[in-house]
Amino acid sequence: MSLHTATLIHRDDGTPYSPEFDDVYHSADGGLTQARAVFLAGNALPQRWAGQGRFCVLETGFGIGINFLATWQAWREDPARCGRLHYFSVEKHPLTLVDLAACHARLPEVAALAAELRAQWPLPLPGWHRLHFDEGRVVLTLLFADVVKALADIDAQFDAFYLDGFAPARNPQMWDLEVFRHCARLAAPGATLASYTTARAVRDGLAAAHFHNERMPGYGRKRHRLVAEFRPPSWRPAAAVPTAAEPDAPVLVIGAGLAGAAIAENLTLRGHPVTVLEATAVPPAGASAVPAALFHPHLSPDDAILSRLVRNGLLFALRRWQALEQRDGHLPVSRSGVAWPAADAAEALSMRQTVERLQFPAEYLSFLERDELRARCGLPVANGGCWFGSSGWLDPRILVRAQLATPGISTRCGVRVERLEHDGKAWQAIDAAGRLLAAAPLVVLANSHDAVRLAPGLCQLRLIRGQLSPIRCEQPPLLHGAIAGRTVLFGLEKGLAAGSTFDENDLQPESRTADRARNLAGLLTLWPEAPLQNPADVSGDFVGFRAATRDHLPLIGALPDITAVRAHGLQWRGRHAAELPRQPGLFGAFAYGSRGLVWASLAAEIIGCRIDGDPLPLEHGLVAAVDPARFIVRNLGQGIVP
Ligand SMILES: Cc1cc2nc3c(=O)[nH]c(=O)nc-3n(C[C@H](O)[C@H](O)[C@H](O)COP(=O)(O)OP(=O)(O)OC[C@H]3O[C@@H](n4cnc5c(N)ncnc54)[C@H](O)[C@@H]3O)c2cc1C
Ligand SMILES: C[S@@+](CC[C@H](N)C(=O)[O-])C[C@H]1O[C@@H](n2cnc3c(N)ncnc32)[C@H](O)[C@@H]1O
Repeated sequence: MSLHTATLIHRDDGTPYSPEFDDVYHSADGGLTQARAVFLAGNALPQRWAGQGRFCVLETGFGIGINFLATWQAWREDPARCGRLHYFSVEKHPLTLVDLAACHARLPEVAALAAELRAQWPLPLPGWHRLHFDEGRVVLTLLFADVVKALADIDAQFDAFYLDGFAPARNPQMWDLEVFRHCARLAAPGATLASYTTARAVRDGLAAAHFHNERMPGYGRKRHRLVAEFRPPSWRPAAAVPTAAEPDAPVLVIGAGLAGAAIAENLTLRGHPVTVLEATAVPPAGASAVPAALFHPHLSPDDAILSRLVRNGLLFALRRWQALEQRDGHLPVSRSGVAWPAADAAEALSMRQTVERLQFPAEYLSFLERDELRARCGLPVANGGCWFGSSGWLDPRILVRAQLATPGISTRCGVRVERLEHDGKAWQAIDAAGRLLAAAPLVVLANSHDAVRLAPGLCQLRLIRGQLSPIRCEQPPLLHGAIAGRTVLFGLEKGLAAGSTFDENDLQPESRTADRARNLAGLLTLWPEAPLQNPADVSGDFVGFRAATRDHLPLIGALPDITAVRAHGLQWRGRHAAELPRQPGLFGAFAYGSRGLVWASLAAEIIGCRIDGDPLPLEHGLVAAVDPARFIVRNLGQGIVP
């Protein structure tokens, strides 16, 4: 589950060397020279991407990132470069930031690019990490996992492969037949492949996977290098070949909360004209109007799907917020840490065991004994617990407004979409009076609970009322981070906010004294001497409604065509959700439950990739876990047709 970072030594000539694999990261002739001579030239780059909308590279072994930097540099310098460059790279032992910087210091030619890479370099946490550069036109997806597992989790098509493990004799896993088979599965028509090694076993293995290969004259001290072309007897696409919309196709986004704002931002940056239709007069108005919201990891001893998804969503969101802040200049994100104190000694023990088992970097997750946790969070908590160092909180209202201010987004407020109709070419959004509000070939439902009314038959959503209570304090406590768990606590400018209640089947929109009392009782369990000033005044309390599914995961993706499923009824039984027919141009991202901040950016990227036909930012198992068709498939399994 955990990753161990690479051990790296610099040889006398400066070449980075791995004692674990007893091999160098690149030849002594220089990493950039090798990258250009072997991997770029071996895949006929930059010529092959000229004029293309998108070009996708898959590398085995990210190492120092020299091949990536050389490719990115070539892309930048090429006036005929492709519209978007996707670079996937697998790495089991990521370098520490310190080692990365030491290696990059020897690459003055690409110093600026290397600095940008390091600025986003992820923590060594297992899973996929997507980084955007050059306004999202260069997309690096780092797959921190063992090579075969990582490749098996990809569902995309690649135009070029860089095979760059350590020498086959020292690193056989990277040259396993399974690796070549996966490359074949993931190869786009006309795909090419390059490597520095011409070892017989590699050539034979590639040939068996239909990569017609030949040795080419080498570079520097190397006599040969390998180039290959994918020539299968017949070509069958990998599971899902996405159909991309026109790059400038207009999109309607329904709902201007955390979900809709992130989607509008993502799609606008991709070049789509976006119109947001929002029922209320001043967004955000739904659950996203909560004045403060936490973001932090989810923990499970076996690093379950929810934990992996939350990790991906959280780390992705942090990078997107950073980019937004660089553009917008004002997005206060508090990353001062989040404490999750255990309720009792038994829970503290179980937390400690989980943390020890996962072995994640302390910056992301650690277990602290009571006194240390007290010192970290600034409250006299009764037990030890988890400390999420890189987590924190923000004001979702500021985030939503900043995202909606992205140039190119048109937000129309005070318009409620009553129904959607497709006229054969475009979706029409119609109001309660039967008036056409707007039309577009692409629509994204980001309207929380109301989405299942506009697209019926998907599943039933739970509606969970929540009340958050601000509390004035004469001398607000020095709360270093926020507190999560049974009671959530934030330090605000003029006091604290405590919450939040969690009540299903309770539709009362007004705040209640009894609920405020529950929030205050929670606060007092964390801080018995809290100097409460306005215990019964509910005038500042916030009430909102979370929409959630039964499996606690959101619905994100293309929406299934219920009519088509119904027409063939139980014939769809036993199929995977991905196989179900979809409605043309209709997408959804909703049911974020209590994790709007964690899901919103990731969901926006999934929707953006689905619309543009780009490789998704997630392992296909995780994509399936949020597929909006999953409940239909589960019901079909029980003989229930939607
Ligand atoms: C008390 C409370 C505390 C919370 N704390 C946290 C927290 O700490 N961390 C966290 O990550 N999350 C938290 N959440 C959850 C988070 O607020 C939600 O997950 C998130 O706001 C959902 O965003 P959304 O855009 O899907 O929905 P919403 O914010 O509800 O937005 C949906 C929007 O769609 C509009 N709309 C609906 N129907 C239509 C229609 N037919 N036509 C046009 N517009 C329409 C609505 O007016 C609304 O503006 C909390 C929620 C509550 C209630
Ligand atoms: C030769 S280096 C790659 C150099 C890199 N391409 C660059 O441009 O800097 C080989 C890389 O493969 C990684 N690796 C080795 N075994 C692996 C495995 N089983 N799965 C994934 N990565 C592995 C190593 O950690 C190392 O970073």
